[in-house]
Amino acid sequence: MKWNLIYLDKVTSTNDVAKTLPCQSVIVAREQTKGRGRCSRVWVSEPDNLFFSIVLKNYGMKAPLLSFVLGVSVVESLKGVDAKLKWPNDVLIDGKKVSGILLENEGDKIIAGIGVNTKYIPKGDFLYPVECLNGLFSNELLLNSILNNLEHNLDVFEKEGFESIRQKWLSYAVGIGQYISVKMPIGSVEGIFENMTQEGAIQLKLDNLSCKYITAGDVFLLNEGKL
Ligand code: BTN
Repeated sequence: MKWNLIYLDKVTSTNDVAKTLPCQSVIVAREQTKGRGRCSRVWVSEPDNLFFSIVLKNYGMKAPLLSFVLGVSVVESLKGVDAKLKWPNDVLIDGKKVSGILLENEGDKIIAGIGVNTKYIPKGDFLYPVECLNGLFSNELLLNSILNNLEHNLDVFEKEGFESIRQKWLSYAVGIGQYISVKMPIGSVEGIFENMTQEGAIQLKLDNLSCKYITAGDVFLLNEGKL
């Protein structure tokens, strides 16, 4: 395996430590005191859930696509569990979030932080319902599996481009063809989630039949919505 693993007991955030390390490093911690999530949210880190960050090279304009490479790698590691992806990379089981991925730019590196609620359900109020895996996978086995799958998927991404990762992502995605709401940094928009583009954007068909492309936001499935 091409990864250099470093285990620590307690850190602020594994992403903070990863920023100081070279590419291919993977920092794993038992506990995070300031775990963070997307959109400046807190990642509630119950000790002994799985927290790690991977130091990757910066793929420049293509770096945002890593979100999907990582999401697919996590889902593929949850064997025997019907895990799904909610755009861009929230991992859901039974419609509840068990894992999240945070990508941060650090000069010529990208820090990919992954949190998986392997044992405990985080306590707090969340934008989206949360779940845990009830210890179904040991942290060590799950981590190794994610890193193996990531190694393979990164290889495919580098050699063949985004398309086959996109196809895999679509096969795991929730909400395709359904009425969704996307909460954006300012405001929200509703429509049918028609596709994910080759740039990783949501292609949304609005009620007036026009198309809108969204590159940042939180997706909510509107089960009661008009289809
Ligand atoms: C999200 O869904 O909002 C992304 C959550 C990412 C959480 C992980 S836990 C390991 C790494 N360290 C952090 O502080 N955040 C990421």
